[in-house]
Amino acid sequence: MTEQRAVGSVGSGAARPAPVVLGSWPTPLERAPRLAAAVGLAADALWVKRDDLCGLGGGGNKVRKLQYTCAQALAAGATTVITSGAPQSNHARLTAAAAARLGLRSILILQGEEPEVPAGNLVLDLLAGAQIVWTGPATAEQARCEVERQAEKVRRDGGIPHVIPFGGSSSFAAQGYVDCSGELLAQLPGLDHVVVAFGSGATMAGLVAGLGAGRVIGIDTGAVADPDARLGELLDGMPDVRVRRADLQLDHGQVGAGYATLTPAAREAMRLAARSEGIFLDPTYTARALAGLIARVAGGGIKRDDRTVFLHTGGLPGLFGHPDFHA
Ligand SMILES: Cc1ncc(COP(=O)(O)O)c(C=O)c1O
Repeated sequence: MTEQRAVGSVGSGAARPAPVVLGSWPTPLERAPRLAAAVGLAADALWVKRDDLCGLGGGGNKVRKLQYTCAQALAAGATTVITSGAPQSNHARLTAAAAARLGLRSILILQGEEPEVPAGNLVLDLLAGAQIVWTGPATAEQARCEVERQAEKVRRDGGIPHVIPFGGSSSFAAQGYVDCSGELLAQLPGLDHVVVAFGSGATMAGLVAGLGAGRVIGIDTGAVADPDARLGELLDGMPDVRVRRADLQLDHGQVGAGYATLTPAAREAMRLAARSEGIFLDPTYTARALAGLIARVAGGGIKRDDRTVFLHTGGLPGLFGHPDFHA
């Protein structure tokens, strides 16, 4: 995934309507005693927050953000939502699913070449009726121009386009993870840490806003060029959030050779979750997040009895479209 920001994607110049409900909430918070033991935590110290089980379109963290960005689309009277991402973008898949649920058209601008045989998220994008536009090997700027070109085309055809930012992240969309923080505090009032994958950033930003920087550990996946700046911008755009940058915990130790690669630690984390708890992770986000959790326990940053939540943000379809993956 190459970084690409749609116009106005960080702050929110657009309206701030009430969210539209697209998933089933609250998502379950499950104990994971066998995984806990395997990673060096006390058996009763690890929980998995199952945002992968939220209902819409195969589930995942993008649904909470889409509840806000789609509300903006509806408030603007949109007929078509347009978004962009990598060929295996979970956000693109869930945008297509959300659009279907809301009776809107969807156009996905995917950065890359069209594969001969669709796999993974792409199969689901097509099933949900999305129109897909391939950019070829485009720069972020070229992809942004394609988004604008498609929006103009929708207008010319008499429709109303609404652009959902890259990765679904804006300061407004981050409210979805302020909501999740509320769920977590109700489910586990004394939680010490939440560990989450960091891509375009709004998931971590919302958790930091809801739980405080000291309890949220983000694991960078290499999706954007300057994740620290990105997180700061998202937080700056949220009303009434005061966080000292120095308190933010964003771990860059799991990027490996880059976003698109499957790291050995991520492969091992996928095996561990599957073999200890029957929980499947995706190679790009959740496997890196669990690898980051494991590294932090090993390094002493998470203590054996700390009440630790691993946020399962979904993404499983990406496993079936990942070039490096074989069990
Ligand atoms: C499965 C999965 N987990 C985590 C993330 C990261 O979320 P965010 O983009 O809000 O940082 C993504 C983003 O693409 C994702 O697809």
